[in-house]
Amino acid sequence: MALSIKTIGVVGAGAMGTGIAHVAAMAGYEVVLRDIDMAFVDRSVASMDKVMAKSVEKGKMTEEERQAVLTRIKKTTVLEDMASVDFIIEAVIERMDLKKEVFQTLNKVCRPEVIFGTNTSSMSITEIAAASGRPDKVCGIHFFNPAQVMRLVEIIRGVQSSDETIAAATDLARAFGKTPIEVKKDSPGFVVNRLMVPQMVEAARLLQEGVASIEAIDTAVKLGLNHPMGPFELMDFTGIDIHYYVMEYFADEFRDNQYAAPQIIKQMVRANKLGRKNGEGFYKY
Ligand SMILES: NC(=O)c1ccc[n+]([C@@H]2O[C@H](COP(=O)([O-])OP(=O)(O)OC[C@H]3O[C@@H](n4cnc5c(N)ncnc54)[C@H](O)[C@@H]3O)[C@@H](O)[C@H]2O)c1
Repeated sequence: MALSIKTIGVVGAGAMGTGIAHVAAMAGYEVVLRDIDMAFVDRSVASMDKVMAKSVEKGKMTEEERQAVLTRIKKTTVLEDMASVDFIIEAVIERMDLKKEVFQTLNKVCRPEVIFGTNTSSMSITEIAAASGRPDKVCGIHFFNPAQVMRLVEIIRGVQSSDETIAAATDLARAFGKTPIEVKKDSPGFVVNRLMVPQMVEAARLLQEGVASIEAIDTAVKLGLNHPMGPFELMDFTGIDIHYYVMEYFADEFRDNQYAAPQIIKQMVRANKLGRKNGEGFYKY
């Protein structure tokens, strides 16, 4: 039976929740956007509006469309407001305990047929699903930053995810205008981060060893591999803390210290130099 999805619940209104909620509302879905503090939700919607104001200025969007998108987004701090939604996308911070807690509460609030997608960058879908109380209805739905621009969505199968869950999440990603790929096995970092994180670890090691400067390494990757950003630019852009958590998670899961965060990344996190999030990273923003 085809699931009729009209309203998307987005939990977490940070960098990713903002992008995902925006993409959903632009695609015509009603959105319920939740964070723990209304100031975060307000900031999130204001940032979407800023992007749309530029689009109106450039003639890429009409003022009516901009207003229509805004009216489709309901702002809340109350998780119980997710009772009306047809599909959940969770984008809270990358902490297993928090994600489990969010899904346990949502399981009580949402209708039993509602699918829970998690936007985790690296963590076990199977473990999150097992804690959710509806493991067959949980999968990974991994967007990239900024979600409004990046075309890929990884749809990740947990051990207990049903075929219907994977099909519904895949259809939704397509309805959002994205290109989904199926990740058939729940493995740390899925495909993109499994390929990208070791490169960031090596970039930090090259820097630590004095082999090349931040600028030289970024230039090498941009001009030699044709990537649009170098590893340090990318870490600053997405948040150095996220990469730190993912590296440490890989090291634990694979029992392989090759993946562990190099000292320089640890020190950046300890010094609260987290890149985009608080203005200071490998480069000054
Ligand atoms: N930043 C990226 O490039 C990127 C890319 C893909 C996936 N991800 C993943 O997306 C998720 C979110 O990352 P982000 O960069 O948006 O983080 P972020 O720190 O910008 O936002 C997280 C938000 O979650 C909120 N939050 C915390 N507990 C909450 C709760 N119980 N209910 C609702 N909101 C809660 C925080 O207040 C914050 O606003 C993480 O799992 C991350 O690994 C991040």
